[in-house]
Amino acid sequence: MSSDESLSASHPTFPPDPAFTAQANGTAQMYADADADHEGFWAAQARERISWATDFDQTLDWSDAPFAKWYVGGELNAAYNCVDRHVEAGNGDRVAIHFEGEPGDTRTITYADLQREVSKAANALGALGVGKGDTVAIYLPMIPEAVVAMLACARIGAPHSVVFGGFSAEALNTRINDASCKIVITADGGYRRGAPSALKPAVDAALDHAETTVEKVVVVKRTGQDTPWNEGRDLWWSDLLDAASETHEAQPHDSEHPLFILYTSGTTGKPKGIFHTTGGYLTQCAYTNSVVHDVHPESDVYWCTADIGWVTGHSYIVYGPLANGATQVMYEGTPDTPHQGRWWEIIEKYKVTILYTAPTAVRTFMKWGHDIPAKFDMSSLRLLGSVGEPINPEAWLWYRKYIGGDRCPIVDTWWQTETGAIMISPLPGVTTLEPGSAQKPMPGISAEILDDEGHPFTEPEKVGYLVLTKPWPSMLRGIWGDPQRYKDTYWSRFGEKYYFAGDGAKYDADGNIWLLGRVDDVMNVSGHRLSTAEIESALVSHPKVAEAAVVGASDETTGQAVVAFVILRQEHIEEADEFGEGVDLVKELRNHVAKEIGPIAKPRTIMIVSELPKTRSGKIMRRLLKDVAEGREVGDVTTLADSTVMNAIKQGLGD
Ligand code: WT7
Repeated sequence: MSSDESLSASHPTFPPDPAFTAQANGTAQMYADADADHEGFWAAQARERISWATDFDQTLDWSDAPFAKWYVGGELNAAYNCVDRHVEAGNGDRVAIHFEGEPGDTRTITYADLQREVSKAANALGALGVGKGDTVAIYLPMIPEAVVAMLACARIGAPHSVVFGGFSAEALNTRINDASCKIVITADGGYRRGAPSALKPAVDAALDHAETTVEKVVVVKRTGQDTPWNEGRDLWWSDLLDAASETHEAQPHDSEHPLFILYTSGTTGKPKGIFHTTGGYLTQCAYTNSVVHDVHPESDVYWCTADIGWVTGHSYIVYGPLANGATQVMYEGTPDTPHQGRWWEIIEKYKVTILYTAPTAVRTFMKWGHDIPAKFDMSSLRLLGSVGEPINPEAWLWYRKYIGGDRCPIVDTWWQTETGAIMISPLPGVTTLEPGSAQKPMPGISAEILDDEGHPFTEPEKVGYLVLTKPWPSMLRGIWGDPQRYKDTYWSRFGEKYYFAGDGAKYDADGNIWLLGRVDDVMNVSGHRLSTAEIESALVSHPKVAEAAVVGASDETTGQAVVAFVILRQEHIEEADEFGEGVDLVKELRNHVAKEIGPIAKPRTIMIVSELPKTRSGKIMRRLLKDVAEGREVGDVTTLADSTVMNAIKQGLGD
């Protein structure tokens, strides 16, 4: 075993393999360089990794903090950086995307192909009247057109707003309206668990609402299923692209030109439109993909299993790897279709060398058994990554042994939609790996842990709040249309000096950072962020519900699971009791949440209760509900307005 077990047998750590170090993109020197000159370090990253049409004259302008400007005066085109420059450098024949559809159909897209497709799409958008500054909603399955659509938007300077295909019509509607999108790009459907699953009807439903800014809906034909059509508004993607020229001159955009908006859950019911700009975002995506994923574009086959609808897909399927000219795999479907070895079969087929996935997937594979990956040849793998939530040491060690053949370093990468790119992570080939910890801020990143009073501390095992102490290039530039909310959410909890991440954290005795989950009313279910308030408001929008409280309860596979406590309106309480309709009602409520937000938000458990625990000022004490949901002894109830409520809840649940 390659682990260093001399310190403690129950606590293996993994020093870098010298052979890995010898070829690694990341170096120990980077920490020293970044510490010595923070801005100089980031200026060098930007100039080394990105092609600028106009060089920048100031690296960072923080004079209007917390509103940052990076690479001031610089001009670039993100799509040119992700596509054209690789073709110009003679790498047009390199595969950009090995696409694997769920039914088994495949497409091989080279950088030259990508250049033609993106150019056609940019011309097609232009012909529809989409110009610089117009916003475009993208609601697509995991197919190459999603990448092409995003890059076409980037090319013409139209910020895209990708909405995860699993979100409902309601959720899509809110996001389209918030960003006043002019166009929606969607598909007839995608393949999911062996069957076509329609998407376009959700777009129709989203746009049915009275007023909309959407002028055209562009539809990719993926499944060929019957699709409702709105003459005059709907257009086939293929018709538009067939009519468009294959050449398109990419214009440079300002470094701070908005690249995209991506909605994420916050502590209130209204999702936040996190927006990112061009130069800093692209720089940090390219840098982290190079030194953390250790991508060597000439030889690696990289696979990030995220959906393009999340930030991981934006940064580590589209912008990072493509800016670096990497070859990657893109897979449309679910890991168990048509069998539970589908991912390992894909790794064997394409000789994948780098795999980046989420702990929830690893834990699911653990449940399915290690004999499944054992059937495939995965000797091509040389690096594994994890993202989205803490990876427990047990899952980390399983991942290393059964997927990584006991030889691949694992990088546990902490970051957020807001941070745009990886912030805390080991550097493979440099860092001695500590299973379960994201370990150290990357070179160029500064983090601290604060106590309740906002004082930084370094004592091991004490729990505090993670903050970031210096601006970084791929930081969010704000919340779309709501600068005040940006300040309030991120830059006020501990004053304007600290970016408040919303995560609990601690150090261990070696100074490694351990992320301990959210400290706010945000849940993390299978690496997806959901807000308790958003699900509560979905529940109370159901006519039978009077009140609802939602908590994230720990769950072995999904990290956290949504558990809802619901009070029914009087007339329905009797209904539920007398006719034993409780079960149907729970199903009805779960489906209602799926309709309002999306299937990912469906509560795992709904408990019908007669009262909720509240303080005298009327605030729901979620902590106590969490105790119930996690099957613990209920904690301190002395601040409850009515201290008998918890007994009633527990009795009602048959405890
Ligand atoms: C939240 C951000 C980063 C892209 C995917 C999620 C949690 C993320 C880790 C990690 C512990 C993690 C945090 C964070 N998180 N990565 N490696 N270890 N926690 O992006 O939806 O914006 O969620 O995910 O709680 O705040 P997101």
